[in-house]
Amino acid sequence: MQTERYSRREFLARVYRYSSLSMMALLFGYDLSAHEQDLAKSTALLYATRYGATKDTAQWIQNGMRTHVDLLDIERVSFSDVLTRYDRFIVGSGIWTGGVHKKVIEFFETGRNSLEGKILATFLVCGTEESTDKGRARIEGYFNVMHASLVTKPSMSKAFGGRIIVEKLFDDDRKALTAFYNSFLHDQLRSWDHTDPEKARCFGTDAEYNLKNPRLGSVQKIRA
Ligand SMILES: Cc1cc2nc3c(=O)[nH]c(=O)nc-3n(C[C@H](O)[C@H](O)[C@H](O)COP(=O)(O)O)c2cc1C
Repeated sequence: MQTERYSRREFLARVYRYSSLSMMALLFGYDLSAHEQDLAKSTALLYATRYGATKDTAQWIQNGMRTHVDLLDIERVSFSDVLTRYDRFIVGSGIWTGGVHKKVIEFFETGRNSLEGKILATFLVCGTEESTDKGRARIEGYFNVMHASLVTKPSMSKAFGGRIIVEKLFDDDRKALTAFYNSFLHDQLRSWDHTDPEKARCFGTDAEYNLKNPRLGSVQKIRA
């Protein structure tokens, strides 16, 4: 049997090579586990809806993400449970008569301090379109109200098209919208659907990218 014999110099060179390799592996292992830990953080996708378009949009956003996120109706959760349990949040609301859902405002007020750095993204689902300056300014206004109590604005925010199905409207809403369409738009109230599953999925994918490459704290408004 032949045994390998090393000179002292070769022996030291090998020890050095192997120890730097194991150091690299150790570092790499450390990096991996830190990265995995970050992904293991639990994310809640909270939505506020009246007629379902915001829930659908939230589901499409969820579909765009490979990381597991819990989809939660903000009207059915306990704020303290949610604030304790999750490390990251995506929060979305429909817009009704100029405002976001009051539970979203309450959630941001309640979590003002504990939510710092944890809001991955916010989104709105509305009838206002972004194709005009006026529309963009109105959407900006909705976001400003939504984010008013947050210390740091979310790094991603986006408005999505919603929908109205006249037959499904509650009486009060149908009457209010009919009056609005007649008086201000000089038109009849009709059903419309501006939802866009693909756009929402892409937003989910972008949000996940931000989750893995955190830049939380920088204000970045993503527009269609
Ligand atoms: C009563 C009512 C009022 C609305 N007011 C606004 C509004 O002020 N601005 C806007 O952009 N969209 C408005 N919309 C359109 C909604 O934002 C859109 O229908 C959205 O899909 C609502 O979300 P939801 O389907 O999750 O309830 C209104 C819709 C309803 C039914």
